[in-house]
Amino acid sequence: MKLKTAIFCSGRGSNMEALIRAARDEKFPAEIALVISNKEDAPALEIARGYGVLAVAVGTKPYGRYREAHERAIDEILVERGIEIICLAGYMRLLTPYLVRRWENKMLNIHPSLLPAFPGLDTHSRALEAGSKLHGCTVHLVTEEMDDGPILAQAAVPVLPGDTAEILAARVLAQEHVIYPAALAGYISGVAVWAGAGEVLRNPLP
Ligand code: GRF
Repeated sequence: MKLKTAIFCSGRGSNMEALIRAARDEKFPAEIALVISNKEDAPALEIARGYGVLAVAVGTKPYGRYREAHERAIDEILVERGIEIICLAGYMRLLTPYLVRRWENKMLNIHPSLLPAFPGLDTHSRALEAGSKLHGCTVHLVTEEMDDGPILAQAAVPVLPGDTAEILAARVLAQEHVIYPAALAGYISGVAVWAGAGEVLRNPLP
């Protein structure tokens, strides 16, 4: 049985697309059953629909500054659809403790740096400014601290002479598309972490 997975995104949706494509393999342990966006005009929504995946925008306007109310509306859809695990993929809105706790150990995120280096935004230009020789991306479990949960997978890329933030971002993004599906599959296969105290995290990569 494939685990019913929701992907949250706000924009372009390339990681979402990588997950959808990986999940089409019958041996992949997740089914992408739902895509949620906080932005009505996110290109990701149309891409998801093109793959036959239900894609829903839950705009933030009606909720004003009541972030938790927005998340409760999202959570209702997740429950209605029988969602079991969530992948954040370029979801550009900070979550409140409400949704994070509700989905504890069942919410993954991808971040474009080798965490714990460069949490937050503009990771590629910050890596260049810092003179990093290695940069990369991280898949981690979501906790209440931003970009801070247990790490499931990382991929490193070299920083090369002449790199701009855009060139470096593209090099990292290619790796994101590889490690996100691998980390999701590996995490689902190592389900021990869900059952008990949660300290056992298996390396998802072969
Ligand atoms: C990716 O770089 C991801 O790591 C970050 O936001 C970006 C989203 O890109 N969290 P996309 O929407 O998956 O193309």
